[in-house]
Amino acid sequence: MHNLKKQPYILAIESSCDDTSAAILKGNIVLSNVVSTQQVHKEYGGVVPELASRAHQKNIIPTVDSALKRAEISKSDLDAIAFTRGPGLLGSLLVGVSFAKSLSLALNKPMIEVNHMEAHILAHLINDGSPTPEFPFLCLTVSGGHTQLVIVNSPLEMKVIGETIDDAAGEAFDKISKIMELPYPGGPLIDKYAKEGNADAYKFPHPKVGELEFSFSGLKTSVLRFLQKEVRKDEKFIENHLNDICASVQKTIVDILVNKIKIASKKTGITRIAIAGGVSANSELRKRLLENTFKWDVFIPDFQFCTDNAGMIGIAGYYKYQKEIFVDQSVVADARLRI
Ligand code: KG4
Ligand code: ZN
Repeated sequence: MHNLKKQPYILAIESSCDDTSAAILKGNIVLSNVVSTQQVHKEYGGVVPELASRAHQKNIIPTVDSALKRAEISKSDLDAIAFTRGPGLLGSLLVGVSFAKSLSLALNKPMIEVNHMEAHILAHLINDGSPTPEFPFLCLTVSGGHTQLVIVNSPLEMKVIGETIDDAAGEAFDKISKIMELPYPGGPLIDKYAKEGNADAYKFPHPKVGELEFSFSGLKTSVLRFLQKEVRKDEKFIENHLNDICASVQKTIVDILVNKIKIASKKTGITRIAIAGGVSANSELRKRLLENTFKWDVFIPDFQFCTDNAGMIGIAGYYKYQKEIFVDQSVVADARLRI
């Protein structure tokens, strides 16, 4: 029998994209959160799925070992194993799912499947001293693969009320930075260069889509056309105006995101606003939300829990553990798993 009275030790594993990560939680506290970011994709301008799964294979055992070591516990202390079942790249997910299944069998410990998108949101419930939103709250999840507005009614009840019809917000950052020949992932670099730039230097159009829908492929095309035109006149245009271009692109993306939150908050009457996912690390997005022009209660996760990490998988696992929602060996990875 599982002892549900004491705070459980949960090992969490994340391998949905290009970060191999393992974390140990005791209850809702993260004792260790180890992330090995794969460097191999940098030169390709994006994640190469085949290389990602190979790197996960290589990293997973040392990453788990180091999470256990940092938490100062051993495998036999574990009460459950949580893992990302999807969404993500199938070859990457397979590594984490198969590892979790083997370890669960070897240790005879229960397994908990976690939806990566729900986990990004539940990162807000990690007990790290930062304020935790009460339910219901509205969450904008913005990552490399997804852009969603979600009403969160409880750790196990969420409803997507808006999403992107094409590229994700992080993808827009990455694709635009690729046009400028910056290495992958470009989001953090655009953020960095934008700090020194004039955000009003260039204007890019907002998409015309449904009230709660997002679209970023048009922005990418308009930046591409604009840069091609300018480079024809001055081949050093990008190099000489990099900071201004980055600041203007970043402002456009952040304006689009904040406008959608505004609409969603008005429609739902919810003023507790959270952001999650890799793009929630963006300093302009954080700044704009914290200016608090709209009188929202704003919740922003600690940096280490914004981009892909197993700590967030662990907290999602913890809420399922409390309700004994376990899975057996027949579980399979699902690249298109939805909230
Ligand atoms: O959540 P995440 O680590 O992985 C996915 O599940 O996709 O998000 C990665 C995305 C990338 O597109 C990356 O460029 C973006 O988050 N990102 C940022 C920043 N840090 C990471 N985008 C803008 N500004 C940042 N500071
Ligand atoms: Zn993610």
